[in-house]
Amino acid sequence: MKLRPEIAALGAYQQGRTPSPHGFKLSSNENPFDPLLGVLEAARSVTAINRYPEQAAVALRSRLADKFDVEFAETLVGAGSASLLQQFFLAACSAGDEIVYAWRSFEAYPIMVTIAGAVSVRVPLTDSAEHDLDALAAAVTERTRVVVVCSPNNPTGPAVSQAAFEAFLAQVPADVLVLLDEAYREFATDPDAVDGASLIGRYPNLVLLRTFSKAYGLAGLRVGYAIGPARLLAAAHATAVPFGYTDLGLAAALASLDREAELFERVATLVARRGRLRAGLLAQGWTVPDAQANFVWLPLGERTPEAADVFFDGDAAVRSFGHEGVRISVGEEESVDRVLDLAQSVRSTWF
Ligand SMILES: Cc1ncc(COP(=O)(O)O)c(C=O)c1O
Repeated sequence: MKLRPEIAALGAYQQGRTPSPHGFKLSSNENPFDPLLGVLEAARSVTAINRYPEQAAVALRSRLADKFDVEFAETLVGAGSASLLQQFFLAACSAGDEIVYAWRSFEAYPIMVTIAGAVSVRVPLTDSAEHDLDALAAAVTERTRVVVVCSPNNPTGPAVSQAAFEAFLAQVPADVLVLLDEAYREFATDPDAVDGASLIGRYPNLVLLRTFSKAYGLAGLRVGYAIGPARLLAAAHATAVPFGYTDLGLAAALASLDREAELFERVATLVARRGRLRAGLLAQGWTVPDAQANFVWLPLGERTPEAADVFFDGDAAVRSFGHEGVRISVGEEESVDRVLDLAQSVRSTWF
């Protein structure tokens, strides 16, 4: 049986490690709070699970159109923003076309590029683990169909500034799709951080991707959305697997938009926790990049695999990246001291 060789060699996306039952799961940037009762009830109210879900997602898309002050056709819902990323790659690329993105960034990008039959062009982050937007713009060629900008960047944490992003958009040809992946936007507190919502309607090639998985705490229900020009969204809609999201997810997402005040209080709590975690690590002598999402990046170089095991054995499962570092999600309140104790022991052993 013949397979596409690049797919046979690919391997599936790896999920963050699961700790022992009493450990902290800090490996997938999930929201540690239990779901709000009203959100759970909204999901539970969906009982007709013998029927296919409502594919047009009319209620949620109308609500998003109101929230972002755009037309209905300028909204699109997907089975997580991961699904939408892939849909846009499939819509824009033919075999051999190029997709430019910063590296390191979200692990799924290279996998999805390969699935789309496209070619990854990776542009290294700066020494402060930030996007190098001039280098990204310079990497655009005749073959480039998409540039992905992840802000705040997973797994390193910094956000792209509004001014730098606008200068970047001015350099990118108008027929190259720019996907601004804002999966963690709600956690960004730097007043200079780009806010894609402020750019809507100004660029024919800009699409924002956001998600209910992180700030809204619905990772298990798979709902993400895109805001952008109707023609681009229609093309991405056409490449979706039919019925990827569920009515349960759509109902929970709508109920979450009704409860943003309460959910964003939780986001503020996580942001404060993030501050405590990063400050504690800096006080221990680590170099930690600016953290604008719900995680911090700890550069550990060659010691990364052993250090990740120390965290895991200490009941704090973190995400390990080769021989570069670990990403530690902001979890339960008690997880912060645990992480700081483990980081201190890693530091005194190897650094
Ligand atoms: C940068 C980034 N984009 C997109 C996603 C996908 O999120 P979801 O598919 O749950 O919306 C993630 C998930 O971790 C992410 O880190």
